[in-house]
Amino acid sequence: MNSELNESQARFTERYTSGQIPWDEALPPPEVQEMVATLPPGRALDLGCGYGRTSIYLAQHGWQVDGVDFVPQAIEGAQERAEAANVAAKAHFHVGSVADLAFLPGPYDLAIDVGCMHSLSEQLLVAYRDGLLRLLRPGALYLLFAHLRDEATDEEPYRWVNEAFVRGLLADFTLEKSELGVTVVNENSWRSGWFWYKR
Ligand SMILES: C[S@@+](CC[C@H](N)C(=O)[O-])C[C@H]1O[C@@H](n2cnc3c(N)ncnc32)[C@H](O)[C@@H]1O
Repeated sequence: MNSELNESQARFTERYTSGQIPWDEALPPPEVQEMVATLPPGRALDLGCGYGRTSIYLAQHGWQVDGVDFVPQAIEGAQERAEAANVAAKAHFHVGSVADLAFLPGPYDLAIDVGCMHSLSEQLLVAYRDGLLRLLRPGALYLLFAHLRDEATDEEPYRWVNEAFVRGLLADFTLEKSELGVTVVNENSWRSGWFWYKR
């Protein structure tokens, strides 16, 4: 891993260790649930899966899922939760970086990223995008939720993504729908967006 990933992994590991994980909900967001309700099951990729709420939900709806996260505690927790939900045969979890998905074989029918890619630098996002292009079959869907910012600050160079950058980065995908809004996490509110892409 490069130094940016090491730093970021240390930051997220600290959050899991200290229990500062506001995304630790039983169910994935309504946008994910609504999308799953419209699709026949297939193979799905959960990018930055955390404790696996999206992977487990997909597996409960018949999907074969690979969840990837670079924090080992998150992956252990996801595996335990998948076993407790009796979907361990369908949901597989991997410690790894979403910017280096060479270890996974495609093709996938669906990729979901709820709050992961907005923590990567623009350079690593190019590798992330190239991984998706390799792994998603033509016509596959990619659902993205990200916090948005205008410009990076020196203090927080990797915090959130620029919307125009995201749109340019993913220009080889078809943007079918987007919904912009504001997300409140604890006392912070950030601009955010849901993006429904097709490969
Ligand atoms: C805000 S949490 C969301 C977790 C999960 N998607 C959910 O909705 O419950 C972001 C997750 O992305 C993971 N993550 C961030 N950068 C990553 C990277 N470069 N590679 C793999 N995982 C990453 C973090 O460890 C964290 O678990």
